[in-house]
Amino acid sequence: MKPNFIQWEEKFSVGIPLIDEQHKKLFALVNDIYAHINTDHSKEIAYFEKIKDALVSYVINHFSTEENIMNLNNVDNKIVFEHKIEHAQFIEEVNRVISDHKKWDMNEVAFLIIEWIFNHIEKMDKNSFNANMRVSNE
Ligand SMILES: [Fe+2]
Repeated sequence: MKPNFIQWEEKFSVGIPLIDEQHKKLFALVNDIYAHINTDHSKEIAYFEKIKDALVSYVINHFSTEENIMNLNNVDNKIVFEHKIEHAQFIEEVNRVISDHKKWDMNEVAFLIIEWIFNHIEKMDKNSFNANMRVSNE
């Protein structure tokens, strides 16, 4: 059995359990991509075609969770603005991979996603969220 590609650790926590759970799920999605790296490129293509819609909708859903929490907690406009730009750019990038996915191998896809997530959690998410924030109106 292959080892996990990436393991979620406490150092990735942004202080909000809901967001941490979603990040863990993103790590799991990347690990699943990693587990499907195959020297037979046609198998990678078939796998990616099966998961691509679920991947993109999970990412979109996660970003809207984060953006809602920022709105609810009156996060500084400049931070929200920059944060949303990064989200939009990533969705664009994922769509670009999807539109010519036959050129991509799963190793490249896994690295692209995980590199982005690591960077984004450190630079944006940790800067935007803290443990005292409300996650819903209730
Ligand atoms: Fe984010």
